[in-house]
Amino acid sequence: MALMFKLKFLNAKALCAVGFLFALSFSATSAQLSSTFYATTCPTLENTVRTGMRQAIRAEVRMAASILRLFFHDCFVNGCDASILLVDSATFTGEQNALPNKNSARGYGVIDNIKTDVEKACPGVVSCADILAIAAREAVVQSGGPTWTVPLGRRDARTASKSAAESDLPSPFADLATLTAKFSNKGLSATDMTALSGGHTLGFAQCSAFRTRIYNATANIDPTFATTRQANCPASGGDTNLAPLDGTQSRFDNRYFTDLINKRGLLISDQELFNGGSQDALVRRYSASPLTFFRDFATAMINMGNISPLTGTNGEIRKNCAVVN
Ligand code: HEM
Ligand SMILES: *[C@@H]1O[C@H](CO)[C@@H](O)[C@H](O)[C@H]1NC(C)=O
Repeated sequence: MALMFKLKFLNAKALCAVGFLFALSFSATSAQLSSTFYATTCPTLENTVRTGMRQAIRAEVRMAASILRLFFHDCFVNGCDASILLVDSATFTGEQNALPNKNSARGYGVIDNIKTDVEKACPGVVSCADILAIAAREAVVQSGGPTWTVPLGRRDARTASKSAAESDLPSPFADLATLTAKFSNKGLSATDMTALSGGHTLGFAQCSAFRTRIYNATANIDPTFATTRQANCPASGGDTNLAPLDGTQSRFDNRYFTDLINKRGLLISDQELFNGGSQDALVRRYSASPLTFFRDFATAMINMGNISPLTGTNGEIRKNCAVVN
């Protein structure tokens, strides 16, 4: 049984089809990109990315989380243009050592390896930005989440911006108003923001990112949860010690939202979505209905993927994702 939702603006139509797997599929219309962009120039693209992600996740389950985050950190900084993949050199300062990314963003090598495989089949055709967009979708699907059709046709930047990475990416210490503004600045709604924050259903954060919350006696936090997290995140030291962002960190599900209702958000920014404010009702809906979360997450990923793409003759098709041509 396969359920397929086709989302066109606000009208959703549900279709049922017979299949062997239970799968959820979503698609939406995009402003400038096209789901068939490589249909004739690189028909094997999606399979190559799928296989590359399967190998990477088999080697390390957390890689699904890391690749999903990489896409977010690419798109929020001057659009989804693979700028985050450019490495620093003596003459080039990129985004990888910007504060939100340094010693934190990971998975660059996975995208580089997939690019190498894609280049073998379709040399000089597919952008690193599009590979990252498909890889992020695969990260979600292969972790048990929804699938969607990825609009394609992005090109790769010849530049990157450390300062934009530091100003435009949200901080884990941000309040709801600040978070909402950061997403609004990228053309994303509060619903997109809350759905996308559900990406924290996967992966881990370092002690330095959640310490102030678990040691704050007046914070809106479950005391048992705080004590548990303190065991591996001392009041000082252990900055890089990891804790899962939700109770099922390898599984793409709606547990993140249930955790928020139970005051078990790990980051301040997580719990801000359920702290007596405008997003409380939506968090309750996602906690009650995984299907609603999956649908809104897929839509929001397409929306995020549409942030300022380079198209036409802008930018380039990088040969190696780590360096400009
Ligand atoms: C709402 C604003 C957001 C803030 C403030 C935020 C902040 C953070 C922080 C601080 C970490 C831990 C990094 C570390 O300790 O090294 C993290 C991890 C993560 N974030 Fe977010 N994030 C936000 C939104 C998102 C979005 C929109 C996505 C994707 C849709 C996302 C996906 C992830 C994933 C999957 C991880 C785990 C990565 C891993 O384990 O390697 N985040 N985020
Ligand atoms: C502790 O939590 C309270 C309530 O949310 C907040 O007002 C305060 O700023 C927090 N303190 C720190 C040090 O984060």
